[in-house]
Amino acid sequence: MVRALVASGSVFAVEEASLLREAATGPDDLTERVARRLDGDPLEHIVGWVDFGDLRLRVGPGVFVPRQRSLSLARAAIAAAGGRHAPIVLEAFCGAAPIAASVRDQIPDARVHACDDDPVALIWARANLGPDAGVHESAVLSGVDAELRGRIDVIAAVPPYVPDDALDQLPREARDHEPHHALLGGPDGLDPIRALVREARFWLRPGGTLLIEMNRSQYPLLDTSGYLADSLDDDQTTVVARLRRAEGADAGHAP
Ligand SMILES: C[S@@+](CC[C@H](N)C(=O)[O-])C[C@H]1O[C@@H](n2cnc3c(N)ncnc32)[C@H](O)[C@@H]1O
Repeated sequence: MVRALVASGSVFAVEEASLLREAATGPDDLTERVARRLDGDPLEHIVGWVDFGDLRLRVGPGVFVPRQRSLSLARAAIAAAGGRHAPIVLEAFCGAAPIAASVRDQIPDARVHACDDDPVALIWARANLGPDAGVHESAVLSGVDAELRGRIDVIAAVPPYVPDDALDQLPREARDHEPHHALLGGPDGLDPIRALVREARFWLRPGGTLLIEMNRSQYPLLDTSGYLADSLDDDQTTVVARLRRAEGADAGHAP
């Protein structure tokens, strides 16, 4: 098994083999899981989980696998919500809901919500958040409960932000086995982010915070009018944009 994994390009073949063996329910199941791995399926989809900080989140075919780099966004969301009584926190574009799950884990009295327009992603979000969270099927923010309008303390998101013509530059696992809808963000990768920035002001309370992971080169292209904006350093590739709805600012009429 290890030799086959090495031949297929696996860098951590011994570790992968042991995780596949652990996940398998018997020899036939193991053969099937190894075949999927050799075909390029993400290991996380095959074993059914990914570690994200201290959490083990459930994932599977059809959902974006949370990336370790998004731990910065999770920490920023926890910091932005911390210190308030029962803060309302929404993970938009939630996929398996790693940010909402991290907030719930660290701030037990937080009222946690998550939204995505993909019903398959929402199955995994519900599995990771449990019955107490609000999980909404929603194009950007349009399907979130109306009663949250103007009341949310923190909205955090990893929207799709890869430019359409950069699909070829993604690793094969992502390109061939994750939904392109979860990855691609239009000609410059910013279409979903622009929509989120436009809509979030109607959902945040005055002084509330919008946090968005994006490529470092995309942040200067954002129109942040109506917000107090800065960016938190992440790694060489990504930043977390932090946009605060000004206290007392009129959000205007919802789109
Ligand atoms: C990059 S994934 C991020 C998932 C999750 N936040 C994470 O970090 O693992 C982006 C998610 O956005 C969702 N999505 C894409 N376009 C959307 C839209 N217009 N409205 C709502 N959700 C959308 C996809 O279904 C996908 O689950």
